[in-house]
Amino acid sequence: MVSKQWLWLMVLMVVLASCSQGGRRYKIGVSQCSEDIWRDKQNAEMRMAAYLHNNVELRFAAAYDSDARQVQQIDSLVATGIDLLIVAPNQIATISPAIDRAYEKGLPVIVFERKTSSQKYTAFMSADNYEMGRVMGEHIARRLQGRGRVMEVMGLKGSSPAIERHKGFMDALALYPDIDVVATLQGDWTEQSAIKAIQEYSGNVENIDFVFGQNDRMAIGARKALTAINPSSSTCYCGIDGLPGEDGGIQLVCDSILDATYIYPTHGDQLLQMAVDILDGKPFEKEVRLMSALVTQENAKVLLMQNEEIVRQTEYLDQLHTLADNYLHQLDTQRLVNLLAIALVVLLGVVALMLYRYHRQKIKLHEERTKMEREQLDFYTQAAHELRTPLTLISGPLDQLAQADDIQHLPKESADLLAIVQRNTANLSQLVNKILDVQTGHSTDGLTSHQIDEMVVSKAKEEDSDPMATQGELTADADAPTLLVVDDNADIRTYLKTILSKRYKLLEAADGQEGLRLAKEQVPDLIVSDVMMPVMNGLEFCQQIKRDFITSHIPVILLTARALSKHQIEGYESGADAYITKPFLPELLLARISNLLKSRHQLHDLWTGGSKDQKKEEVTQPMKEDAFILRFKAVMEEKMDDSNLSVEDLGTALHLSRVQLYRKVKAITGCSPVDLLRKARLAEALRLLAETNLSVSEIAYKVGFTSPSYFTKCFKDEYGKVPGEARMT
Ligand code: FRU
Repeated sequence: MVSKQWLWLMVLMVVLASCSQGGRRYKIGVSQCSEDIWRDKQNAEMRMAAYLHNNVELRFAAAYDSDARQVQQIDSLVATGIDLLIVAPNQIATISPAIDRAYEKGLPVIVFERKTSSQKYTAFMSADNYEMGRVMGEHIARRLQGRGRVMEVMGLKGSSPAIERHKGFMDALALYPDIDVVATLQGDWTEQSAIKAIQEYSGNVENIDFVFGQNDRMAIGARKALTAINPSSSTCYCGIDGLPGEDGGIQLVCDSILDATYIYPTHGDQLLQMAVDILDGKPFEKEVRLMSALVTQENAKVLLMQNEEIVRQTEYLDQLHTLADNYLHQLDTQRLVNLLAIALVVLLGVVALMLYRYHRQKIKLHEERTKMEREQLDFYTQAAHELRTPLTLISGPLDQLAQADDIQHLPKESADLLAIVQRNTANLSQLVNKILDVQTGHSTDGLTSHQIDEMVVSKAKEEDSDPMATQGELTADADAPTLLVVDDNADIRTYLKTILSKRYKLLEAADGQEGLRLAKEQVPDLIVSDVMMPVMNGLEFCQQIKRDFITSHIPVILLTARALSKHQIEGYESGADAYITKPFLPELLLARISNLLKSRHQLHDLWTGGSKDQKKEEVTQPMKEDAFILRFKAVMEEKMDDSNLSVEDLGTALHLSRVQLYRKVKAITGCSPVDLLRKARLAEALRLLAETNLSVSEIAYKVGFTSPSYFTKCFKDEYGKVPGEARMT
């Protein structure tokens, strides 16, 4: 994902960068045959002109008058991928093949100043070399007034200007029969070549009136050589090129070193414009002839001044260009900074997006994991329920069978088999607990719930004054407490019955709703309920029991396969008094029931005036009972003098049925409402005896007795003395 985003970022940067370049870039190769001040001037003019076109890149090569080098340079310029070639071929024939090759590749070619032998070029630009030679011939003839001795030093053999200048020169002088061209020496355009040619010349160099060097440098070379031979000679020298500047031909004319020169135009700017026009597909002239002029003593000064002005203007332009260049550079830097800023913003955006996605993914993963854990837990809870319930129904009855008296009479083999089954059932129970505990990541400090049950039951056994041996009776007696068993599994209910029916009277319900109805109607002494049941589950059921005024006092034991601490906490939060997990030990259940019922009897003593130690237990009783008792007491005190007051009347006042009132009062206080009413009457009589002068009979009627003798009997039964004795103490 990351590399993909980087790729997008790079593509964006390249697009932005390329947008900022704008237009097509032109690479123009310039192949010069020589390296000299004339070529330097021309190259400088091309560079200046290129400033105007900021999409032009110039690549220069100079062959130093070598054919082989120029051929090789042209080929390599083409190989670098130039878009156009400008070439000044060293000699006519030798360079043509290289120019042809470039042209045949489809490259536009401009040949300038010197010609090739082929027609394979796009355009040609030059001054008229024949005309130059001719004008120079006429100038000399004029200066010699048609009579004199003349010498010519030619440029490189085979180069077109040398040939054409010579032809023009000779044609001009042919008109003057008294002018003698004493020698035509061969140079190669350099000063040195002219010196050498003169030195090697074997003819008479005396009385030479004019020397025509085909360029200014060779004219100077000839002057140096001839002056060396004859320092006092009055020979005049003419050249071609007429460059401006200190060592240029115009200055030499001005200084009378040369008699005349001819401006050989460089026009590098024009050359470059032509190249750009060709590349832009604009119309251009295929053959351009550059105009030029003769420089003599008459016009040299003016030309120099003009040139100085041009130089000044050029320098000024150059400064302006440098300035513009700096601005452009700043602009470029600015653009780069902008690009980087954009890239940074994009990068930050990408990073932020990645972080956001990573965060979202993490949350999603967490949610998925939590959901999976919840589903897993639900699955194992369900599995636990499914496994533990049948296990309870196997191990419980088996244990009971093993403890039965008639087991002694079984043949040894059968007893052994029973023991094997019993042992393996216990193993299976432990195994199931272990697997479920491991799978749900739940551990009860290394103990299985079964082991905990065993610990609790052994403790309960120590405390329980009522040994299991008393289970011998088949059914509970009439005074036995009533238990309500709520479980949707009929086998569990049957099994519980076999455990509980010997000690307790039993009520049964198959779900929470039915259990609630029965509990309100019958007000049992204790409830044993499953948790996972249809219609109304055990937790909801337990909450309802604890919330209802009639049933709130009833202890509830949740008996369930849901063994996790989390589930136990839920159970206790719903108001349960005890939580036992399946499979369970019957002894554990019995011990819990017994303890819960016993702790309720301690409240009876409190109500009926028990010991101080027993009073401490009151603190642990819920306030709900106190509220009920306070209301019950208030109703009794209010109606005490009514000798006809019945239990029904009390129930009506408390919105309870006779059975509900009886069971609730009995459960909380251990006494029947009738007993309590009598005790309350006697307690009030005791107070009246002590605090008033009313007679015993008056008191008896006042507290609701119809016969003073029955009052006296009851009083003696309650307090161990007759009312008269009570008053005396
Ligand atoms: C410059 C130059 C000039 C001459 C011309 C002839 O390289 O030698 O001096 O006029 O070339 O092509």
